[in-house]
Amino acid sequence: MQPNRDFSRLLENVPPSGIREFFDLVIGRKDVISLGVGEPDFATPWAIREAGFYALEKGRTSYTSNKGLKELRVAAAQYFRERFKVDYDSEEEVLITVGGSEAIDLGFRALLNPGDEVLLPEPNYVCYRPLVELTGATAVTLDTTATRFLPEVAELKKKLTPRTKAIVLAYPSNPTGMAPTRAQQQAWANFAIENDLWVLSDEIYAELVFDGVPFESMASLPGMQDRTLLVTGVSKAFAMTGWRVGIAAGPASLLGRMCKIHQYAMLCAPIMSQYAAVEALTQGERVVAPMRDSYRYRRNYFVAALRQMGLEVHQPEGALYVFPSVRAAGLSSRDFAMGLLKEHSVAVVPGTAFGASGEGYIRCCYATEFNNLKEAAARMAAFVKPRLK
Ligand SMILES: Cc1ncc(COP(=O)(O)O)c(C=O)c1O
Repeated sequence: MQPNRDFSRLLENVPPSGIREFFDLVIGRKDVISLGVGEPDFATPWAIREAGFYALEKGRTSYTSNKGLKELRVAAAQYFRERFKVDYDSEEEVLITVGGSEAIDLGFRALLNPGDEVLLPEPNYVCYRPLVELTGATAVTLDTTATRFLPEVAELKKKLTPRTKAIVLAYPSNPTGMAPTRAQQQAWANFAIENDLWVLSDEIYAELVFDGVPFESMASLPGMQDRTLLVTGVSKAFAMTGWRVGIAAGPASLLGRMCKIHQYAMLCAPIMSQYAAVEALTQGERVVAPMRDSYRYRRNYFVAALRQMGLEVHQPEGALYVFPSVRAAGLSSRDFAMGLLKEHSVAVVPGTAFGASGEGYIRCCYATEFNNLKEAAARMAAFVKPRLK
């Protein structure tokens, strides 16, 4: 018999991830084309894999410093300096985590107290709300569907209370692919400064922006570095999701506290992955650029295909996703995704997995082999056509 079943009450209120829930239906089905899982379809570039092998060959199989390998922290600080013109002290202001995911969790846990409120523009990546709520704080969501999925300051202001402590800004966005202009970022920065808020800026897709000016960090805006927890990592830009290396950068007061939790809960990220990540940051654009070009090509194709089949979609600036409206087909997000899977064996994620305001949308990840993408578009068109009003 199990002992006392009074499990964590905060956890009882956390629903299972809408992405995983849906993908349990797909596992093991060879006929399904999946536009569901949000990760690059490339294997990690060879030079980076080699650095991992080399670490193993050399017998580098120990723990590292809790903060992460010094070489990696120094490489990360150099990346932030060169790419974003932001200076971080690699000893006190950079922490290597187990994926960006751990950095987000640590950030909330170090920052929040029960009763605090965190502004969360929606739709958003699945982990923020549960991780905020597990601290006893409250996630205050804001529907951004009417404003190209980017929150307007006037709307954010309506959600402010004396308990508002932080805002999550996660751009380029999963699930929408949208990225802000510098002017939009400046407006958010002014809002954060005026209202003395922390910003958790999840910039894990910063390198995957396709047209025009590269994405700039929120931390690089005047007055922002001291109030921004910058979260990034190698998972997306370098096709390294399985290596589990994330990077957090921010004020020493916050990073030190995050490291305290990390040292008890995680000790460190895997050492061979950290060596591979050093190589990734050293390779930089050389390996990212060809993958980015390939994503851009597929984005262009897929956005055009969606429009041609009669679905409305904003052209996303970055990440790996498009987030079309399926209202024209007269179905809810869930019915659309279920129907498409059942009738045509194409898996997409219902927009509601990313918050209630995702109703009426689906997320499609176009990082899949081009012929698959074409076939998926043809099957989707066959599903949509008879349903169009
Ligand atoms: C916006 C966003 N942040 C963080 C993560 C987690 O990335 P990691 O693999 O570094 O934990 C993801 C993964 O999908 C993501 O989309």
